[in-house]
Amino acid sequence: MTTPTRPEEAAMLKSCCANLYESDWARLLLGDSFHPGGLTLTERLGTWLELGPGRRLLDVASGKGASAIFLAQRFGCEVVGVDYGAQAIAEATLAAERAGVADRVCFKQGDAESLLFDDGEFDAVICECAFCTFPDKQAAAAEFARVLKPGGRVGLSDLTRSGALPEELDSLLAWIACLADARPIDEYAAYLQYAAFTVERIEPHDHALANMVTSIRTKLLGAELMVKLKQVDLPGADFEQAKRMARAAAEAVREGKLSYAIIVGAKASNSSGFFAGLTFQRLEGVK
Ligand SMILES: C[S@@+](CC[C@H](N)C(=O)[O-])C[C@H]1O[C@@H](n2cnc3c(N)ncnc32)[C@H](O)[C@@H]1O
Repeated sequence: MTTPTRPEEAAMLKSCCANLYESDWARLLLGDSFHPGGLTLTERLGTWLELGPGRRLLDVASGKGASAIFLAQRFGCEVVGVDYGAQAIAEATLAAERAGVADRVCFKQGDAESLLFDDGEFDAVICECAFCTFPDKQAAAAEFARVLKPGGRVGLSDLTRSGALPEELDSLLAWIACLADARPIDEYAAYLQYAAFTVERIEPHDHALANMVTSIRTKLLGAELMVKLKQVDLPGADFEQAKRMARAAAEAVREGKLSYAIIVGAKASNSSGFFAGLTFQRLEGVK
């Protein structure tokens, strides 16, 4: 599957991705934190982003809000989460109220490729396991730079790939499950550099991905059994396809074709968001 370039195709992909992560499937297989390494890796990113009281963080593609709520509690910062899915925003808002942090954590529906925030509104931006699903990654990286204050930092954690992935991981489902459009870590670094970031850190976390894939495979078997025993209803669930994909993902991780990494970039302290937006150019050779 190639990167969709037509606006309607891109919008369809974003909606499919949001729907998948709002589904009972995602809840059953992943819980509320939808990325390898869970909140341990989120905490690591928070430390590198130098979060603390008085700092304002934007969590792009915040899902059910687990990371945003955790970071506000752990570092005392203010957090705004943005996600494409309306249901995810409603659930995240409720979760923040239940956690007693609604005065410092809020969620808004929006698109990472065109953020509804002013230039220079945030001290830090985090984007976990979602950059790889954005059809226009350059636009998203430029938006991260625009909404950051000079000297602000962006922290991505994402799937990375080296070489071609097996056929099972090149489908629409694989794409919206974050697999098909994973890129080599150098490409993520290049997107950030073209958006005027200096890349400060890159750290592999392959074991976190391996653990997540193992856990998903185990939970898939459990879910299949529960459906057979009529203890749970998952209409339209295609367990054979899901198991094939999970098996292929496990193999790709074992062979080092699919990995996970953290990457942190800093915006120059003398560049404004407006400047970063103006100098942003299309990256040669990167779709
Ligand atoms: C794998 S989940 C990650 C959620 C969260 N960051 C976490 O780690 O728990 C991917 C999320 O990206 C969101 N998403 C996909 N495309 C988006 C876009 N263009 N703008 C904002 N959110 C998007 C989906 O709705 C979904 O919640």
